[in-house]
Amino acid sequence: MSDRVKGKRILVTGASSGIGKAAAKMLVAEGAEVIIGSANQAKGEAAAAAIGARYIRVNVREEREIAAFINEGAALLGGLDVLIQNAGIQYGGVIESFPTEQWDDIMLTNVRSMFLGAKYAIPHLKKAGKGSIINTASVAGKRGGAGMSAYAASKGAIIAFGTGLARELAPFAIRVNTVCPGWVDTEFNGPAIANLGGPEGQAKVIKANVPLGRQATPDEIAPMYVYLASDESSFVTCQSYLIDGGQFN
Ligand SMILES: NC(=O)c1ccc[n+]([C@@H]2O[C@H](COP(=O)([O-])OP(=O)(O)OC[C@H]3O[C@@H](n4cnc5c(N)ncnc54)[C@H](O)[C@@H]3O)[C@@H](O)[C@H]2O)c1
Repeated sequence: MSDRVKGKRILVTGASSGIGKAAAKMLVAEGAEVIIGSANQAKGEAAAAAIGARYIRVNVREEREIAAFINEGAALLGGLDVLIQNAGIQYGGVIESFPTEQWDDIMLTNVRSMFLGAKYAIPHLKKAGKGSIINTASVAGKRGGAGMSAYAASKGAIIAFGTGLARELAPFAIRVNTVCPGWVDTEFNGPAIANLGGPEGQAKVIKANVPLGRQATPDEIAPMYVYLASDESSFVTCQSYLIDGGQFN
């Protein structure tokens, strides 16, 4: 590792496991000061201790908690350079019988949280004089799958939110980009796997649709967050990056 984000003050949501944890770990290894947030305190504290970060509990469904995570996090870090919004949930099911409560829940957790996180982070990033906001969407936000329309709608909204926000914040040298992973081997995909009839169905779909023929590991997604958090990406904004083994183009 080579100090690519040395001294950067970074907040990461949804980082007690999976992609967020792998990204936070790589950011710490590259010299950043990182605070991770997630709703599960025991898991979050354990993850933070394991990777050399600090932890603040945040349920991204709650505006008050997001505001506190960002304001307390920025105070502890002495400012804020990068916000990574990665927390998300997934439900599967055909629309005809899809519970309306689950539609609302997915939009609240996946989309509204991104608006609120950005809203409370922007004053801190402006104070820093430049910054980077990185949101996690999904290949599903570009190409929905049958039985995953609610999830796809939430991830498509994150991509569109990022392009608008990037234009709004460009005059302040605050960049906004979106990471769109394909299949990643985490616990997250239970509903998608069930929707495909179990792990065998998932394996068939991956073989048929992913040229590289397999899932990614979280460590294969993490470098994109380091790049977008670092000054190496100083001319990059308004983009959404697929890391999907060639699944969609
Ligand atoms: N695994 C995949 O195949 C895949 C593919 C594309 C996109 N993604 C996206 O990547 C992100 C991370 O997923 P992952 O695969 O690492 O799974 P994960 O289950 O390991 O991570 C999800 C994280 O979100 C957090 N979270 C969920 N609800 C929360 C809430 N209300 N408040 C605070 N934190 C909350 C969880 O605690 C966890 O840390 C998600 O946004 C997901 O949509 C995952």
